[in-house]
Amino acid sequence: MIARRVGPTGLAVHPVGLGCMGMSWGYAESRRDDSVSVEVIRRALDAGPILLDTADAYGAGHNETLVGRALAGRRADAVVATKTGIVVDDLATRTLSRNASPERIRRCADASLRRLGVEAIDLYYLHRVDPDVPLAESWGALAELVRAGKVRRLGLSEVTREQASTAHAIHPVAAVQSELSLWTREPLDPETGISGWCAAHGACFVPFAPLGRGFLTGRYTGPGDFEAGDFRAGNPRFADEAFAANLRIVRAVERVAARHGATAAQVVLAWTLAQGDHVIPIPGTKQTRYLADNLAAGALLLTERDLGDLDAAPAATGSRY
Ligand SMILES: NC(=O)c1ccc[n+]([C@@H]2O[C@H](COP(=O)([O-])OP(=O)(O)OC[C@H]3O[C@@H](n4cnc5c(N)ncnc54)[C@H](OP(=O)(O)O)[C@@H]3O)[C@@H](O)[C@H]2O)c1
Repeated sequence: MIARRVGPTGLAVHPVGLGCMGMSWGYAESRRDDSVSVEVIRRALDAGPILLDTADAYGAGHNETLVGRALAGRRADAVVATKTGIVVDDLATRTLSRNASPERIRRCADASLRRLGVEAIDLYYLHRVDPDVPLAESWGALAELVRAGKVRRLGLSEVTREQASTAHAIHPVAAVQSELSLWTREPLDPETGISGWCAAHGACFVPFAPLGRGFLTGRYTGPGDFEAGDFRAGNPRFADEAFAANLRIVRAVERVAARHGATAAQVVLAWTLAQGDHVIPIPGTKQTRYLADNLAAGALLLTERDLGDLDAAPAATGSRY
C-alpha cells in the first residue's frame, strides 16, 4: 500500500482515511453506538498513521470527544483533522448557520483541542467560508493559530479555485475537502475543479462522501431503507425515481468489482485514488467490517479499461443537497 502525504511537508498517511461524522449524526442514527465507534477508530489507528476526519459541528462536539477517547495513548497513529466555521444552532433539528469570525475561530480551536485531548490539531479546516466575514480575515485567524503552535496546517472545505488562491496567498493551503465520488465529479473539472488546483499548489485533495453517502456501495435497495431523520431520507438523489435511475451507476461499479473480486465500495474508493497521488479519500463508517473493506481499497489498482468504464457511468440524477 503506497502512503500519501497531507501537503508537501506533511506526514505520510494510509492512502484511505476515516470519516467519523456518521458516528455522531447523519446516517442510521438508531444504530449509533459510541463504544463500537471508538473500536472502529482504534482499528483504523492500527493501520496508521491514518487521516481521521471530524469537525466541531458533528454532533455539536460529540464527534470530537469520541475521536479524543479513541486517541488516548495512540496519538502517533493519527493525523487529526477537524473543522470550524459551522454553528449548530439546534442539535435536535440540525439547524446550522455559519460563523467564521476570528474571535469565534480562536474560541472553537481551544474547545476542539480540549475535546480531542491533543496538544495541536494536525489539520484545521475552515468548514465553510462565512459570507459575512471576508475569507482573508477567517484565514488570517487560522494562520495565527499555526504561529501559536495550536494547529500544524490549514485546510478549506467546499471552496472555489479563487477562494483557495486568496487563502494560499496569506498562508499555505495544505488540503481542500469537497464532495467527490462517481456521482459528484465537479472537483475534477479541468477548468474549474478544485482537485487540479490542489495538485498544482502542493495541497492534498480530500474527497468527502466518497461512497456517495453509502449509495455507491450497492447496499441499498430503495428509499424505504432510510429511517426518519437520516440525511438520505430527504435527499433528492435518494428519492424514488432518482434512486432507481442512480442504480445504473451502481451496476457499472459492480461490473468492475466483479473483474477484481472486490467490493463496490473498494472500486469507488480506488477510483478516487486513481484521480492523483494528492488524493486521500475519507470514507465514513461506524462498522469494523466496512472499515476493513475500505482500507483494503488502498491496494486495489484499477486498469485503464476499468477507469474508462467507470468514467462512462451515467451522471447522477438529483441534486446533491
Ligand atoms: N466537509 C464537509 O462538508 C463534509 C460533508 C460530509 C462529510 N464529510 C466528511 O466525510 C466523511 C465521509 O463522508 P460520509 O460519511 O458523509 O459519506 P460516505 O463515506 O460516502 O458514506 C458513508 C455511508 O457509507 C456506509 N459505508 C461505509 N463503508 C461501507 C462499505 N464498505 N460497504 C457498505 N457501506 C459502507 C456507511 O455505513 P455505516 O454508517 O453503517 O458504517 C455510511 O452509511 C464524513 O464522515 C465526514 O468526516 C465532510
